[in-house]
Amino acid sequence: MKNLVVFASGSGSNFQSIIDAVSNKQLNANIAGLITNNENSFAIKRAKSHSIPTACINPSLFKSEDEYCEFLLKQLHNWKADFLILAGYLRKIPGKIISQYPDRILNIHPSLLPAYGGKGFYGKKVHEAVIKNREQESGCSVHIVTKQYDEGPILAQSTVKVDENETAESLARKVLTQEHILYPKVIEHHLNTLK
Ligand code: GRF
Repeated sequence: MKNLVVFASGSGSNFQSIIDAVSNKQLNANIAGLITNNENSFAIKRAKSHSIPTACINPSLFKSEDEYCEFLLKQLHNWKADFLILAGYLRKIPGKIISQYPDRILNIHPSLLPAYGGKGFYGKKVHEAVIKNREQESGCSVHIVTKQYDEGPILAQSTVKVDENETAESLARKVLTQEHILYPKVIEHHLNTLK
């Protein structure tokens, strides 16, 4: 069975959907650990209540990117990570890590990439821009992480309608609901594809 290491910085609701998918055998994998950069992340509580090991690693506390990468890689090796699953992780994954896990790092983004992706488009900012531009639709995308931020190959997308009077908050909720359905399915499919 493949080992997943999930990276999350915030509430971790996508992490929860992955935990649930593993529990109900929709996703045939083991969650070997959670990495967060934020000691207050609710994802830590979710991990603890499911006995998933956690590591809080703050990239800013290392003297250099090389030292940070070495530390992170050691942790990933200890957990025998096969795939890295980014679920609301607000730090860039260094190129050195990406080259160690080719095609084996996935991310979910709350827009229909390539639209509203790249630097500055995260969280609420994505939904605010979608509404400001009067888009009719938005959604979420699961993609492979490459060195080009938010530009790796898209594996799947889910679309939602942007209603009149939509707010960034209501759109975020709608998109998140789709994320929770899409991400575990795409992870399962990707694990089987790379077997
Ligand atoms: C999600 O909208 C995801 O697309 C983005 O960050 C958010 C994380 O939400 N990358 P959560 O922490 O999983 O609730």
